[in-house]
Amino acid sequence: MFSGTTGIQHEEALIFEREHHNASSIQLPGVEAELSSELLAFQRQKSAHIPNLSEPETVRHFVRMSQWNHGIETGFYPLGSCTMKHNPRINEQIARLDGFAHIHPEQADESVQGTLQIMHQLSQDLGEISGFAHVSLQPAAGAHGELTGLMMIRACMDERKQTQRRVVLVPDSAHGTNPASAALCGMRTIEIPSASNGRIDLEILATYLNDEVAAFMITNPNTTGMFESDIQRICDMVHEAGALVYGDGANLNALVGMARPGDMGIDCLHINVHKTFATPHGGGGPGAGPIAVNDTLAAFLPVPRIIKTEDEHYHLQYEATQSIGSMLGSMGQVGVLLRASAYIAAFGRDKLHMIAQDAVLNANYVLSRLKDHYDVPFAGLCKHECLLTDAKQQEYGIKTLDIAKYLIDLGMHPMTVYFPLIVQGAMLIEPTETESKQTLDDFCDAMIDIARMAKEEPEPLHQAPQKPIRTRLDEVQAARKPVLVWPEEA
Ligand SMILES: Cc1ncc(COP(=O)(O)O)c(C=O)c1O
Repeated sequence: MFSGTTGIQHEEALIFEREHHNASSIQLPGVEAELSSELLAFQRQKSAHIPNLSEPETVRHFVRMSQWNHGIETGFYPLGSCTMKHNPRINEQIARLDGFAHIHPEQADESVQGTLQIMHQLSQDLGEISGFAHVSLQPAAGAHGELTGLMMIRACMDERKQTQRRVVLVPDSAHGTNPASAALCGMRTIEIPSASNGRIDLEILATYLNDEVAAFMITNPNTTGMFESDIQRICDMVHEAGALVYGDGANLNALVGMARPGDMGIDCLHINVHKTFATPHGGGGPGAGPIAVNDTLAAFLPVPRIIKTEDEHYHLQYEATQSIGSMLGSMGQVGVLLRASAYIAAFGRDKLHMIAQDAVLNANYVLSRLKDHYDVPFAGLCKHECLLTDAKQQEYGIKTLDIAKYLIDLGMHPMTVYFPLIVQGAMLIEPTETESKQTLDDFCDAMIDIARMAKEEPEPLHQAPQKPIRTRLDEVQAARKPVLVWPEEA
């Protein structure tokens, strides 16, 4: 199955390929209850293909697979815009306490007072950190927060009887989830070109603002790592045009404890707590994307809302006439939210600024060490991530992809490549505040050596990676003839 397109070196990569037929770790109980006719209609007609493997074989299989992976606990992980920071162990210990780990989303409020209290406190902390008076913890990820915020903006426009406002303006540097969330919300996206310095150009923005615009989405610092220093003027312009400003808070790590998006004039912001407040979130989850809003949007927040009564009791309130409804069951991804609470408490509410300061310092340290070896598309200090390109290496036939793949052979996760899309051959490096100077130096030394190799001995860069289980993929074949289903089902 894998030959040719994937570069895999070993057979039996899937558990199905390891099975044999005289061992099984699975004993499914028979069904004792009488099934209703509705349930019987869904009964499987063919038995499920569950691989026949003993428990030790199954355990070895998954442990072996985990060793093929690179995670933040294996090595440096400077994936730009993803904030892959160390997740303190105390977060895990707290999230696994019996009283949290074994509660059910539908449990009576009275029996989960402690969890409700912590969630209420977290809402207040996030509001204080971001500069907003109201927070819902419900969204399950940043993208889900975007959808929630845009649904609220849409509801607000409807309430203002401005149902023609269905356009969302999105800068061309934005993360792909921004236009996707707008589309999912039934809005039309218009892309705004960035200025030559990678930032929003006020004159260009002005030409797009009209009475069809419901929202302008802005990421600050933006995905080039640069701070949008005109943010207050931008918010004023959008408000004067009758629209609202949606803040993509994925890059809050650059600002936390130092500046608050709510104070800049933004109306609503999602917070990727799995980034800024640490949770191991590689591979698509788990996450949480609480949404914070000002008074303009408060009425539309999702339900349930966590209410604190005068006698210090907490309950979930489901009635709210203008609410957009529920975005997820109960309070949200409580396991992730608990980790965020633990992170904030353990770090110290009054010390959170050290996160942003060190994250920005680390990114600028990397930038200053690499700027003479790689092209830097936008001059000046960066925020929590720095942007380079492969323009100097292209001269020798070496591309961003070759550089990224070679880092894998050196035991480092590559930076984000070819994003933001507005920069050719982009390499977006986010070291985060949790890395030591030694790690940053090892990475910079490796990158400087790669720049030398590009000139003097480029072949290993073309051939990389050689060390991991998967060598370089044949991207052309993978794009033209993708294998998307397990052959048995094909
Ligand atoms: C700038 C930006 N916006 C939005 C998102 C979406 O967040 P999530 O992956 O939590 O859905 C990301 C994720 O990387 C991002 O970098």
